[in-house]
Formats: sequence, structure tokens, C-alpha cells
Amino acid sequence: MEKFVINGGHPLKGEILVSGAKNSAVAILPATLLLDVPCIIENVPDISDVEICLKILKGLGAEVKPLNQQGDTYWISCRNVSDFYVPYKEAKKMRASYYFLGALLGRCGNARAAMPGGCSLGARPIDQHLKAFEILGAKQLIEDQQSDIVELHAESLRGGNISMDVVSVGATMNAILAAVKAPGITIIENAAKEPHVVDLANFLNYMGANIKGAGTDVIKIEGVKKLMGNAGEGSTVDYRYSIVPDQIEAGTFMVAAAATKGDVIIKGVIPKHLEAITAKLIDCGVNVEELDNMDAIRVSVENKKIFCPTNIKTEPYPGFPTDMQPQMATLLTIANGESSIMENVWEDRFRYVHELRKMGAEINITQNGAVVRGGDLLTGACVNACDLRAGAAMIIAGLMANGCTEITEIQHIERGYADIAKKLRGIGADIVKI
Ligand code: EPZ
Repeated sequence: MEKFVINGGHPLKGEILVSGAKNSAVAILPATLLLDVPCIIENVPDISDVEICLKILKGLGAEVKPLNQQGDTYWISCRNVSDFYVPYKEAKKMRASYYFLGALLGRCGNARAAMPGGCSLGARPIDQHLKAFEILGAKQLIEDQQSDIVELHAESLRGGNISMDVVSVGATMNAILAAVKAPGITIIENAAKEPHVVDLANFLNYMGANIKGAGTDVIKIEGVKKLMGNAGEGSTVDYRYSIVPDQIEAGTFMVAAAATKGDVIIKGVIPKHLEAITAKLIDCGVNVEELDNMDAIRVSVENKKIFCPTNIKTEPYPGFPTDMQPQMATLLTIANGESSIMENVWEDRFRYVHELRKMGAEINITQNGAVVRGGDLLTGACVNACDLRAGAAMIIAGLMANGCTEITEIQHIERGYADIAKKLRGIGADIVKI
């Protein structure tokens, strides 16, 4: 079983490049099923969730060609796709497999996939996704709750008014996928506003969709017949779309730079997407500055700096991202005082606390959150990556701790962070994968 081995205590220094956003790529790749022309997707992160998406696309009959050595650019044509059954094995490996439901429904009115797998953060219902699909005219063909298969069929999709009961990234994006070619007008109220929601809408609009309001809580979609870009029939133009930088990977590197009292320039970012993370780091006494070329951010901390405690409340975007909660908690283990964390998105996102306690962290789980009592530097230990972002927190803990840390179950980490050990070695970390 592979693991990361980290010798901590080295301040991270240098420049690090952020990859394309995982949570954007896992929606935009399925969205190519809606297109009537081939397209080229750039800045695709080299992570296992993307590998699964591409495997599913090929399994459905799509042609997928890597266009460069780095493995971040793909030519994709879904012209020959005739199937709508998402392979069970692949669908169970990741949460985002549900985007194939919306894309296939939008493409051909049929879709069948296993209920998604992915990080265990508590119950991960998809009732809002199904509600949106039903409003757009789809029927669920498999009713028994025991089976973990979802099969949808729509005689004909049509626009409708969808008011989400909870702000849901996945349900918002799935509603967009199913509605872009549905005749009529679709309104999505209480929509999620994350950067990856906007990225999906931008991609589809670039290919000829009519989506307004992405990034706000009301999205209006006018169904179009074809998604073939603006070059018209028979054109040979290459439609190229570049995925936005990963807000959470960038935030993870920001916290790692701060926690090791380093000085790191994080490149290829959109600073606006990082505002909630930047604000909290500045609260703790970290220097964060947007560099004048605007696609980079510098995080630095004086060696003797003692961090101030702060309070974290996770919220949908633009609030503090839940996907940054474990990483921030790790930094707060060395703040000078008590910090409180309220996790308002997921009911079970504190499994990493048990692992941090092995390294000496003093964290109490309260009714609906945690209290982190800042103290001495953590001590290296053998810990487990419980899920993707908990694994990222373990890496930060290992980088800042005295001594050696071993992290197991690293497949969770590699689902969402491309080449993370290599990238961190590039800024002075002593981390190897064995
Ligand atoms: C996406 O998950 C992300 N995953 C998660 O990131 C992220 O934590 C989450 O959004 C919130 O930002 C992907 O994009 C692949 P939600 P998603 O639907 O879409 C409830 C990571 O680390 N809900 O926004 O599954 C749900 O229980 C992963 O990259 C319903 O009740 O999250 C939760 O409490 C972890 N019914 C809240 O809404 C539904 O039908 C937000 O969930 C859907 C969701």
C-alpha cells in the first residue's frame, strides 16, 4: 500500500503552480456529451477522478485523445456515443459520477448510473438532483431504495422552475447539464455560486448555450437545439476551453506555506476565488499579497511569528469553503489560543481530528463543530488519510511537525491533488511517496 513519508520542519519557499480545478473538470468532461462538435479541454488536472471521467466517456463510446505530454489537454468527440449506461464499477469510485446523469439526460433523455461513491462526509443524498430532473420532465425508472442504481427516462425534457431546498453544488450543476438543451426556460433558484459552477456555465455558453446568472443564486437557462460553438455547421474550428485554477488546491498550498512559516508564491490562481481563505489567514497574522500580474498570490510568515486564533464557519461560496476546513484546523493547532470551527455543510467532516490527535493536537468535538486549542508544534506520527481534504490536512501536519510522519490511504489524496509530493518538493518539502 502506497504512503507518503514526510520529514517536517522545513519552511516552504519558492514558487508552486496550481492545476485546473477538480470540481470543475469532473463536470465539464461529462458536459462534452451535450456537444454536437468535438472540443479541446485544456488545464485538466492529472488526478484519478479525471481518469475515471475519461474512462467512463470512452466506455460510452466517446473518442478521447490526449494532446500533450503533460496530460492536461484532451481532444474529445462524443459523436459516436450511443450508450447511456454508466459502468457500475467506475461510477462507484467517485462522487461526481452523478454528473453523467444530467449530461446523458440532456443528450438523449436517458441515463443510468450507480449512486455515487466518493468521500464519506455523512449522508450524501441526491434528492435535489432528482427533484431538478423530475421538474425538467424525467421519470425515475428504478424506485426501490435498496438498489444503488439510478435510471432516468424523459419522453421529452422541457424547461421548468427549480427552487433548491438546500444550496447544492452538484444539484445546481446537474440541473444546468439537463436543462441547456431542454426547450423553454429553466430557472434555478437558491443556486450554488462556486467558481466551478460558473466555469461549467462559461464552457457551455462558449459552445452555444444560453445560461445567465451563474455565480448568483438565480440562474436562467434558455434551451438551445444545438451546442456547436459559434462557427456554424461543418466548420473545422478547434473549440478550446481552459478549466479554471483549483481554488482548493491553491488554498491548501497557502495554508501549507503559512503553517511551515515559509514564503511561497502560488501561481496560476484567480485571487478573487481565494478571498475567504485569504481573510482567515490574515486574521491569523499571515502575510498574503496579490502579485501585480494578478494570477499569483504570495503567502509569507516571519519565522518567529505566533499565529492568532480565529473562528471558522464553513458556508457555500463566497463563504469559507468546507473543503478548506481540515487544512485550516491543522494550522490552528499552533495558534496562540482557542479557535472554534463550525462545519455547516457536512454533518461528518471531523474524522481527521482523530488522526491529528495522534500528532499531539488538542481538538475537542462539540455539538456541531470543534474547538482547537493551540499549543506546541505537532509531532510526527503514522496517520491515515480519511478522505481527500483530510488527507491534505495530514500532509500539512507532516510538513509542519517535528520529526517524521507517514500517511497511509493516500489514494484519497491523489483523487484531487495532481503530483502533490513532486510539487511540494519543488518548494523545499521533504516528502516522498513509497
Ligand atoms: C461538492 O460536493 C464538492 N464535490 C465537495 O467537494 C464540496 O464539499 C461540496 O460540493 C460543497 O462545496 C464535487 O464538486 C465533486 P453539495 P456535492 O451538493 O455537490 C446537501 C472535495 O473535497 N445535499 O453542495 O456533493 C449535502 O448533504 C469534495 O472536493 C442534499 O441535501 O455537495 C450537503 O449537506 C468533498 N441533497 C449540502 O447539501 C442533495 O441532493 C451541500 O452538498 C445534494 C446535497
